[in-house]
Amino acid sequence: MGILLKNISTLLTLQGAAAKQGRRIQEEDLSLLQQAAIVIEKEKIAWVGPQKKLPREFARKKTLRDYDMKGRTVLPGFIECHTHLIFAGDRAAEFEMRNQGVSYQEIAAKGGGILSTMKKTRASSLNDLVKTGQKRLDHFVSQGVTTVEIKSGYALNLKDELKMLQAAQKLSGIRTVNTFLGAHALPPEFKSYEEYLTFLAQEVLPVVAKKKLARRVDVFIEKGFFPPEASEKYLRRAQELGFEILIHADQMSLSGGSDIAVRLGALSGDHLLQIEDKEIKKLAQSEVTGVLLPTADLYTKTKYPPARAMIDAGVRVALATDFNPGTSPTQNLNLVGLLARLEMKMSLPEVIAAYTVGGAYALNLQNEVGSLEVGKSADILCIDQDWQTLFYSVGEDSEKVVFSRGKKVFGSLK
Ligand code: NIG
Ligand code: FE
Repeated sequence: MGILLKNISTLLTLQGAAAKQGRRIQEEDLSLLQQAAIVIEKEKIAWVGPQKKLPREFARKKTLRDYDMKGRTVLPGFIECHTHLIFAGDRAAEFEMRNQGVSYQEIAAKGGGILSTMKKTRASSLNDLVKTGQKRLDHFVSQGVTTVEIKSGYALNLKDELKMLQAAQKLSGIRTVNTFLGAHALPPEFKSYEEYLTFLAQEVLPVVAKKKLARRVDVFIEKGFFPPEASEKYLRRAQELGFEILIHADQMSLSGGSDIAVRLGALSGDHLLQIEDKEIKKLAQSEVTGVLLPTADLYTKTKYPPARAMIDAGVRVALATDFNPGTSPTQNLNLVGLLARLEMKMSLPEVIAAYTVGGAYALNLQNEVGSLEVGKSADILCIDQDWQTLFYSVGEDSEKVVFSRGKKVFGSLK
């Protein structure tokens, strides 16, 4: 049975933003429709437009179930394209240390940081990771998220990296996308980054590919973490094996990650706060999406990425929480969008497009999600507020109704 969503006061289809491939977004690219309706059939959008123009074939259809939206605002579900959702434990004590002046790199060099989460994650059962992971995923859904990317990278050995990816695959409710981030930190079993990357390329990537546990590979290229040359070689190998690639790039220093992303045709370069004009220009001329993660910048007390310069140069950007226990222990999309507006001078239409069309491109899902157009997946967010009040009040929690693939997965329409 299909669904008819009617009496939508304002519908943001984002059709214009999708047509511009998420670049240089203006308010008109939100593609606002007043008094609109949507028809969903077989998990997809079958029709969308002003309600007055609803074709008779749909108006009369007995197989359509009506939902009265009672004047709600409707937009594409948000896309969280960068998270480390699966992990055990927390790093609250480390946060306190960082607040007393010890740096992230100093903590990492002493075996804390990612390696402390590694110990807890290795020791966790698949079931426990699924349980905590599902709670966290549901928390994203309650904020209107319909697609979440999930990285491995807190196990750093074959067995438990597979366990992390399996846990992520067992989560249910909305669309998830797995990414293999074995190259997140150097585990104690290896002496050098080069040696560890060779192990990952030879012993782990082929297994991940064969078991279809992820179709994307990410690397943390950074001073004190994975060096650019060996990482580039590793990423090329991943591409040969059929993986899409992306990079944690230029987060703590300008260490070459975004250049490699452009050179190899990565889907995204993520963080990018250290990049300058030269890198911005290259990104603008490429298909790489710049994934900006301002809550990580807030928690690490660094600068914010040069979003204004990037967008004006023509870079397509996405926003995400980077949810992880170390540098961004928050799942709050409102805070991400608020920082993008306050600290990165992004306009509200730019933020909305980054969280929909931009995220879709970062995940190579632009033909399925990100905008509400005929043929795309019915991943829909209905809110009881004006769109202009989005990403504005951090404590706000307006009532939401969320559809994923045409099925209501959160909220009530009564
Ligand atoms: O995206 N930068 C590397 N990875 C994470 C941090 C992971 C952690 O500290 O646990 C990030 O910021
Ligand atoms: Fe990250």
